[in-house]
Amino acid sequence: MLVVENSPLYSAEFFAADDPWSYLSHLRENHPISIHRRADGYEFYALTRYADVYEAYVDHTRLSSAYGTMVDGSYRPEKDSASGRMLIVADRPEHTALRRPIKHSGFNRDMLEKVGRTVRRNLRASLDQLAVGDVIDFDKVVAPELPKGVLEVLFGIGPADAHSLLEATRTMIGYRDEAYTGASPLESLVDAQMEVLDFIDGLIGQRIESGASDDMIGFLAQLVASGDMPRDVALLNGLNVAVGGNETTPHTASLTIDTIHHERAQWLKVVAGDVPADVATQEFLRWTSTNSYVQRLTIEDFEVGGETIPSGSFVTLWNMAANRDPAVFDQPDTFMIDRQDNKQLAFGAGVHRCIGAPVATLEIQTFVEELAAWDKAFVVVNEPQRLRSNFMLGMTELRVEVVDAKELGA
Ligand code: HEM
Repeated sequence: MLVVENSPLYSAEFFAADDPWSYLSHLRENHPISIHRRADGYEFYALTRYADVYEAYVDHTRLSSAYGTMVDGSYRPEKDSASGRMLIVADRPEHTALRRPIKHSGFNRDMLEKVGRTVRRNLRASLDQLAVGDVIDFDKVVAPELPKGVLEVLFGIGPADAHSLLEATRTMIGYRDEAYTGASPLESLVDAQMEVLDFIDGLIGQRIESGASDDMIGFLAQLVASGDMPRDVALLNGLNVAVGGNETTPHTASLTIDTIHHERAQWLKVVAGDVPADVATQEFLRWTSTNSYVQRLTIEDFEVGGETIPSGSFVTLWNMAANRDPAVFDQPDTFMIDRQDNKQLAFGAGVHRCIGAPVATLEIQTFVEELAAWDKAFVVVNEPQRLRSNFMLGMTELRVEVVDAKELGA
């Protein structure tokens, strides 16, 4: 098995400035299971084939999420500090008990409808403000409108609070990127985390006092009030939903704009109504694969792809490599806006499959619909600044000019 010392898969710079897609494709085709080491002794196995990634996602007996799903989220042998109490780092049976009330209160049909309406309203207002000739940083001006609408509905807060919460959670995930943090990343991470936790705790306190349960935070607050959920568990899961929702879809939206810029002829098929927005959305999700990998720890020997990964090993499941696997996708390295039967793995699989997947899909689809109906369009005018992160694929700056859509053939 290939062992890579000082692997580029650890390097945020490699993901921001080089070509991780080609590197991972090379691994998938030649060394589908490989070991990656870092100078400090940290080591993980990397799965890159769709079939192997999928198998790892659905094996909840031999693979644990409780030791952190992001490299540097925690170190063995200690479990993640939120282990067993926060969705993403909980194994069954705790995971099942946590997921039920969160899904019921935050991700039911009513909430989804409200989110769709709010995101559409916010997006329209943001696009309506723009005039032909304006040059903006899409990443700062339009992209935040997607998660802002979700926060407004699930957390029951106004646009200004949603904006502050968004800024703080983005610093938490992008903390290794100076675009968010300046020169002291760890201090920024801790400050941002405290700010988010204080804010959510304040909301829980208000809802306990008022007895309101008509949004996700209110529902969790009433479970706290009745003694059915410890307050720190409600807090941690509020944090999980906020981070999960905030740091993903804005990046997907920025990468979508950049893709449209490079694939204008394909995009015009959506504008003309020849390709439905939901079909295009699935391809944008596959193509952008915003959450590049997740991590697990084997708690028993794990046989996968003809190899045995010993118990006690970190394993990374590369969504971005699985989403370009020729065994599953026809011409995987080609963006095909009308791709049919798109089995993209951007949201993972199994019991941890993104709880926000319906919300995220709705946000991106609403975004696609609003862009297609807009009488203007964005043209990328500078080389985009990619996020320095191996965990989230995204951008920290995307300068675009607003042009008349007719100029581009719409
Ligand atoms: C394009 C956007 C998104 C992508 C690519 C994405 C990706 C993922 C992936 C791959 C996982 C599985 C993690 C694992 O197996 O360890 C996950 C879990 C999760 N996501 Fe998302 N996500 C997105 C949007 C959202 C949104 C909008 C929300 C909330 C509003 C959200 C909240 C969560 C939460 C709470 C979990 C943990 C679920 C669990 O462990 O049961 N995500 N996401």
